[in-house]
Amino acid sequence: MSSHIEEKIERLKQFRNAVILAHNYQIPEVQDIADFVGDSLGLSVQAAATQADTIVFCGVLFMAETAAILSPQKNVLLPDLEAGCPMADMITAAQLRELKAKHPGALTVCYVNTPAEVKAECDYCCTSSNAVELVNRLPEDKEIIFVPDKHLGQYVADQTGRDMILWPGYCPTHVRITEDDIRKVKQEHPDALVLAHPECGRAVYDVTDEMLSTGQMIKFAKQSSNSKFIIATELGILHTLKKQNPDKEFFAASEAAVCPNMKKITLEKVAWSLEDNQFQVKVNEEITSRARKALDRMLEVLPAK
Ligand code: 13P
Ligand code: SF4
Repeated sequence: MSSHIEEKIERLKQFRNAVILAHNYQIPEVQDIADFVGDSLGLSVQAAATQADTIVFCGVLFMAETAAILSPQKNVLLPDLEAGCPMADMITAAQLRELKAKHPGALTVCYVNTPAEVKAECDYCCTSSNAVELVNRLPEDKEIIFVPDKHLGQYVADQTGRDMILWPGYCPTHVRITEDDIRKVKQEHPDALVLAHPECGRAVYDVTDEMLSTGQMIKFAKQSSNSKFIIATELGILHTLKKQNPDKEFFAASEAAVCPNMKKITLEKVAWSLEDNQFQVKVNEEITSRARKALDRMLEVLPAK
């Protein structure tokens, strides 16, 4: 049975011809009212393809900015402007320009978790689900700068054998998940498979069965014949995993893996967002056209898993 607030959201959504996109880390109630729940790549694909006039982005600022770049004619709303990504803010366009000046001729790849101005400085953008495939396609005689996540960058370097110049950024939520945490949960559930996000870093490689983006974790859990999984990423994903697989069991690698920014969006804020057309996320034309090139290249590369 839907509540008053859910009905209000539905009504306002029709009124604005809006689509609600939610990341896998959103709170359960927000995931449940969304038209599409997914990972950064899946959400970008949806944002680029939707016929709606308005996109309500239940995620963090860089995701809404990405939607605004991919669909510049659309009205993109972020229900809470304070929902940022601390990792994305660990690099500025000026810092990247300085790094590029030290490595003339290098190709520059950014994780989608970056401000629009940083994307505008890059040749390629990627998400955790297609980073390895994208880097594998780059000419072998070129140096590669990868920003801002040193852990995803290291994972890609390990997988591709490419020498990469890494920026020292990281996700404050994923680094809370330690190898010891995983070992402890594994002791209690020895037959569970460990699925970890590459933002966790090398320290968890030895105790992990599969390194996957959030969208890949959902696909993997559904298709696997295993019935128990230890999940090493932000806790919001457990909602979808449990909902889609009622006969399987999911255990958090660490209860500390909570991203406070992803939890800022609530049903009330989604309703206010639709009611007052707030908060509009706009990226200026010059940055949009420069960042678009890197984002279009990201959308061309399908994930292997
Ligand atoms: P994915 O959902 O693309 O795996 O990204 C994880 C993340 O941390 C987004 O902020
Ligand atoms: Fe940023 Fe990490 Fe939160 Fe994702 S989980 S939005 S990378 S801080």
